[in-house]
Amino acid sequence: KLWCILFNTVLHLYTARGLLLHELRKTNATKEQLYLHNHVQQLPQAIIIGVRKGGTRALLEMLNLHPAVVKASQEIHFFDNDQNYGRGIDWYRGKMPFSFPHQITIEKSPAYFITEEVPERIFKMNSSIKLLIIVREPTTRAVSDYTQVLEGKERKNKTYHKFETLAIDGKTCEVNTKYKAVRTSIYSKHLERWLKYFPVEQFHVVDGDRLITDPLPELQLVERFLNLPSKISQYNLYFNATRGFYCLRFNIVFNKCLAGSKGRTHPEVNLSVVTKLQKFFHPFNQKFYQITGRTFDWP
Ligand SMILES: *[C@@H]1O[C@H](CO)[C@@H](O)[C@H](O)[C@H]1NC(C)=O
Ligand SMILES: *[C@@H]1O[C@H](CO)[C@@H](O)[C@H](O)[C@H]1NC(C)=O
Ligand SMILES: *[C@@H]1O[C@H](CO)[C@@H](O)[C@H](O)[C@H]1NC(C)=O
Ligand SMILES: *[C@@H]1O[C@H](CO)[C@@H](O)[C@H](O)[C@H]1NC(C)=O
Ligand SMILES: *[C@@H]1O[C@H](CO)[C@@H](O)[C@H](O)[C@H]1NC(C)=O
Repeated sequence: KLWCILFNTVLHLYTARGLLLHELRKTNATKEQLYLHNHVQQLPQAIIIGVRKGGTRALLEMLNLHPAVVKASQEIHFFDNDQNYGRGIDWYRGKMPFSFPHQITIEKSPAYFITEEVPERIFKMNSSIKLLIIVREPTTRAVSDYTQVLEGKERKNKTYHKFETLAIDGKTCEVNTKYKAVRTSIYSKHLERWLKYFPVEQFHVVDGDRLITDPLPELQLVERFLNLPSKISQYNLYFNATRGFYCLRFNIVFNKCLAGSKGRTHPEVNLSVVTKLQKFFHPFNQKFYQITGRTFDWP
């Protein structure tokens, strides 16, 4: 009996994590076959819809610490990419990881938040789906967005404009709202489009700045939102002083630090440009707090 319980626990641990799955497939005990029979690809019950550079990867990896959460490893870009969307819902399901019925599947594709067609498409799949948005202070996020693009250009030895040139319209000296890194940070505008389809209760806002400095309280709020028992603990999150960042401990043998490319150093941006952007985002931030009921200490 004890052996059996132990066996099932171990099996569960590993299959749930998608580890050693092929090892299990090599054996063929009836018990395993029965167990794995329940192991199916499920459509997500929750989606991290954005925002880009808000910390979507960190959030997904941290939620994956929960035994009842299974993550889609890659950004699937089903709802924001017409070609993928045209492949149909079964294609989407086929991109999902295997999970057990008591588990929930989560995927993240940050482009969903800002893409026009996405809310309606997700609504058609599941009108009661739970939606997670992780945000950071809008000006910091815009610079981080710029930095990622810049690094891509530098890798290809391409020259690139300065942030200041892109973010400020050279003719009017006003904030350039056509610049994507600026537009993405106008959170309230995007959220208003989503609210044409989903009630505000179906959204949960995660503080991306706090997720980096003190992840546990943020993760506990998400557990509650997803109706999951509180399982993620301080044991699962340990601070790595070398990286200056939390690493994840799944169990005694398996831990994981997020890729080093996260947490890049930003270029120095002209202070008057920063101030101009902060002033620009201010009213949109107020609107965002008002809609979501979550207030941040953004400028
Ligand atoms: C699996 O089952 C097949 C046929 O039922 C048998 O020939 C084979 O030896 C079994 N493999 C293992 C690893 O038990
Ligand atoms: C839709 O999402 C809700 C919330 O996660 C979930 O309870 C429900 O089972 C989902 N429905 C379908 C058909 O997947
Ligand atoms: C970029 O430039 C450097 C130095 O000029 C060169 O060593 C490197 O191979 C170049 N990389 C690419 C991708 O062209
Ligand atoms: C901490 O981070 C450093 C640098 O990335 C890495 O080499 C080391 O393995 C990490 N330590 C732990 C315990 O994760
Ligand atoms: C920052 O930008 C303002 C106006 O765009 C300019 O007057 C100022 O000299 C710049 N400051 C620095 C340190 O480059």
